[in-house]
Amino acid sequence: MRFRDRPTVVYLVLVRTDALRKLVPPFPVPTVPDFTALALARREDLRTWSLHLLATHVLIGGATRRGKGSVLWSMVRALAGGVSSGLVRLWVIDPKGGMEFAMGRPMFARFACKSFEAMADLLDEAVTVMRERQTRLAGVVRVHTPTVDDPLVVVVIDEMAALTAYLQDSELKKRIANSLGLLLSQGAGVGVLVVAALQDPRKDVLPFRDLFPTRIALGLTEESQVDMVLGDGARNRGALADQMPRWAKGVGYVILDGTPDPMRVRFSYLSDDHIRAMAEEHPAPAHAADILAQVGRETTPEPERASVPRQVARPLLPKSLLDALNPKSDTPEEDA
Ligand SMILES: Nc1ncnc2c1ncn2[C@@H]1O[C@H](COP(=O)(O)OP(=O)(O)OP(=O)(O)O)[C@@H](O)[C@H]1O
Ligand SMILES: [Mg+2]
Repeated sequence: MRFRDRPTVVYLVLVRTDALRKLVPPFPVPTVPDFTALALARREDLRTWSLHLLATHVLIGGATRRGKGSVLWSMVRALAGGVSSGLVRLWVIDPKGGMEFAMGRPMFARFACKSFEAMADLLDEAVTVMRERQTRLAGVVRVHTPTVDDPLVVVVIDEMAALTAYLQDSELKKRIANSLGLLLSQGAGVGVLVVAALQDPRKDVLPFRDLFPTRIALGLTEESQVDMVLGDGARNRGALADQMPRWAKGVGYVILDGTPDPMRVRFSYLSDDHIRAMAEEHPAPAHAADILAQVGRETTPEPERASVPRQVARPLLPKSLLDALNPKSDTPEEDA
């Protein structure tokens, strides 16, 4: 900078109140959702914070009653236009027996809230959809683009620990862990995404934590949990999620794209009436649950591999012993 271009006026902005104290009303529903910028929250500088929901999975960590529900509903609302047009399929798992999500049922192509068996089935079927897409898209595109014929599948899981940690049936738990691991490690690129909320981010509760590229931390109970949710060093860079005041429901820290710095935001709050009205206005199309039927459609056959010639097994016993056991043996002579 040249000396004569130096700034001569300095504006000082003194913030005397918390910009996020006020409740954030729901954002308007875009007819066609922009998956790279879904408006979900208000930032401290009063701009809108948008979520990039393409080729990623989202983890929302927050202690009980801190507003995880409002993050999930804000996202459902931002996607609502795509739900009714068929661009998006919401597959929802609500282990609290439907307490959180039953009201939005018309919007969900799949919904499991009572039986853990059904939740495991839902995840298995998501893996089937993923596999089918992998076979069909391999060598064609690297990242799937959602279309009405090939919609974005968003598997929404409230209270993930109910599936990964607290479930008693160990067989079922193993099955769920297996499909979750597959979805989280391979689903993002083919448009089968997982958005999960949980209260306790400790490793033993969620072994898959590191497989979520996008993280959001609402109020947490312990200092150490902040980095567990947002990644190493996030608390040192300012994400004081463990010091969130009691009023700050739905307030959380997100990492902004392209910077390592956390930003404090407040998610929009949808009342029960908002949810009911939205579900009525944006129901999933009648055939939405049928995505699995698509799996039966023709897929690119797997390329045939030339069989590798098998090595002829040679006897492990010394020839003298082999001859003694089987005098007519015609095994080849061993070189000395
Ligand atoms: N974004 C928000 N703005 C204002 N108030 C909110 C917001 N989100 C949640 N609240 C208030 O906080 C309460 C708890 O929210 P919510 O049920 O979403 O929390 P949770 O983290 O999902 O809790 P739990 O772990 O018990 O499921 C709500 O009933 C609501 O009154
Ligand atoms: Mg909740």
